[in-house]
Amino acid sequence: MKQTCFVCQNVDCQSRGSEELMKELTTEVAEKSIDAEVKSYICFGGCDIGPNIVVHPQKVWYAGVKKEDVPEIVAALASGATVTRLDSADPALKEIVFSLLDAGVF
Ligand code: FES
Repeated sequence: MKQTCFVCQNVDCQSRGSEELMKELTTEVAEKSIDAEVKSYICFGGCDIGPNIVVHPQKVWYAGVKKEDVPEIVAALASGATVTRLDSADPALKEIVFSLLDAGVF
């Protein structure tokens, strides 16, 4: 199933390096020919726990992502696994964001 990795590019996440994360993720996904698309997202409302990356429609949320986490995330995208140590966002917030994405609110 096609996966879209939404990388938050709003102020708080950007101040913690999300622009660099997005570049790194885009490069690695292309290099490894993974069936995933990397896109920016305006804000997931989890600004205090960013940088945040949400994988849709797999309902995976990675919080506090660092550049060194990217290879592990890419490997998980390739295998269909989840990097559980980065899955620390509030379940209620996750549910709201996953519902919005399911409804096509990008
Ligand atoms: S700034 Fe990234 S979730 Fe709001």
